[in-house]
Amino acid sequence: MTDDSTSDATSRSEAVFERARAVVPGGAQTGLRAQAHDPYPAAFERASGATLTTVDGETLTDYHLAFGPIVLGHGHDEVDAAVKATIDEGVLFGAGTTELEAEVAERLANLLPSVEMVNFCNSGSEATYHAIRLARAHTGNDKILKFEGCYHGWHDYVDVSVYPPADELGARHPESEGMLPAAVENTVVVPFNDPEAFRAAMAEHGDDLAGVILEPIPHSVGCLHPTGDFLDALESETDARDVPLIFDEVITAFRHSPRGAQAGLGVTPDLTCVAKAMGNGYPVAAVGGRRDLLEQAGGNNTSGVVISGTYSGHPTGLAATRETLRLLEEEDVQAHLTRLGRAYREGLADLLEDRGIEGRVVGHRSIFSVQFGATDEPRTYADVVGIDEERFREFAVGMRERGHFFTPNPYKRHHLSLAHTDDHLREYLEDADEVLAEL
Ligand SMILES: Cc1ncc(COP(=O)(O)O)c(C=O)c1O
Repeated sequence: MTDDSTSDATSRSEAVFERARAVVPGGAQTGLRAQAHDPYPAAFERASGATLTTVDGETLTDYHLAFGPIVLGHGHDEVDAAVKATIDEGVLFGAGTTELEAEVAERLANLLPSVEMVNFCNSGSEATYHAIRLARAHTGNDKILKFEGCYHGWHDYVDVSVYPPADELGARHPESEGMLPAAVENTVVVPFNDPEAFRAAMAEHGDDLAGVILEPIPHSVGCLHPTGDFLDALESETDARDVPLIFDEVITAFRHSPRGAQAGLGVTPDLTCVAKAMGNGYPVAAVGGRRDLLEQAGGNNTSGVVISGTYSGHPTGLAATRETLRLLEEEDVQAHLTRLGRAYREGLADLLEDRGIEGRVVGHRSIFSVQFGATDEPRTYADVVGIDEERFREFAVGMRERGHFFTPNPYKRHHLSLAHTDDHLREYLEDADEVLAEL
């Protein structure tokens, strides 16, 4: 295939892409998904286990896993059966409550160390939006402090300095046109893993802050491991000023541990946002946390904090969550994901070394990224901003030609699921060796 391929192997995908592009901006539902059309259009018709099948009948091993939700594999029989059984009882009640809601909320409160109460919604962005509203109501303050390289969703409060260009490090960088300037101005941006910069920002803005939000292990830029002194500073500074600490565990919770990254890091946030892996692909998310913070939303929509949503607590998402969490706990999925993740990372790192290619492999448990043009372990976003984007794209294209799918975006990551096996590992490493030899 060539870069402008319309060969037989992708001709139906090409036709679907053209059809979509006429009526869907960019020919995909999100800009990040549109990147997967590069260099060949990607139109899919089936997802099963660890594979995706295109409309051209091409079967690809999926390392993208829809940006992370698929932790048990696509189309997991037991999760899908639980959802189908729920549909038979009623698709949407939309009034009062259900036993399923209470049960899944109890389960989240039991699993996530910091969570006492839970409010459901349908996406990670909604969860972070609600968390910030709760934090603003609690403190009476406007400003939110976030960290460079952390993504918390598309809304104006947080879509700032996720991927700032090198010449905008340290500044507020709105990620989109059309954002409300006042929202951007009320977002304080600090480098990740820099306790001194964080303390200085707290000293400057602490009295005006409504909350501090972070991905505890930022995967929006591959993987940054938080240092102990940074975590200590986060906890002590936010405690001292009664500023809610918000963990965005949209990627990390349930994928890295049924108890969230917070359990392993030993930090107790005040609010936690979860989504993605909790439902193995069904739309479901939640904000949880301290009772007094969540109870602000306990009014009847005329007082307190309004948290609203026609589809919040949708039975399909909750049935999927109940079953996914059961499987994650009972079947020790973590052991498989952790072992396999380490084997991919070590195998890839060996290949880079053997071929003398400048690059590094970063990750945690079932997540990994290969980043070209840099070697030391990244600690902060500034360590990631200069990676070799074009080389990664060539790697992604070469791997796709050999049947392995991940987006050509160099800041994104590979994910593994329970459906990935040692055979996938072997095939991946053999093919990666070939592709790296050609780079
Ligand atoms: C850490 C994190 N927070 C929030 C979000 C937003 O979630 P959603 O896309 O479901 O709105 C994402 C999405 O990728 C994410 O990775």
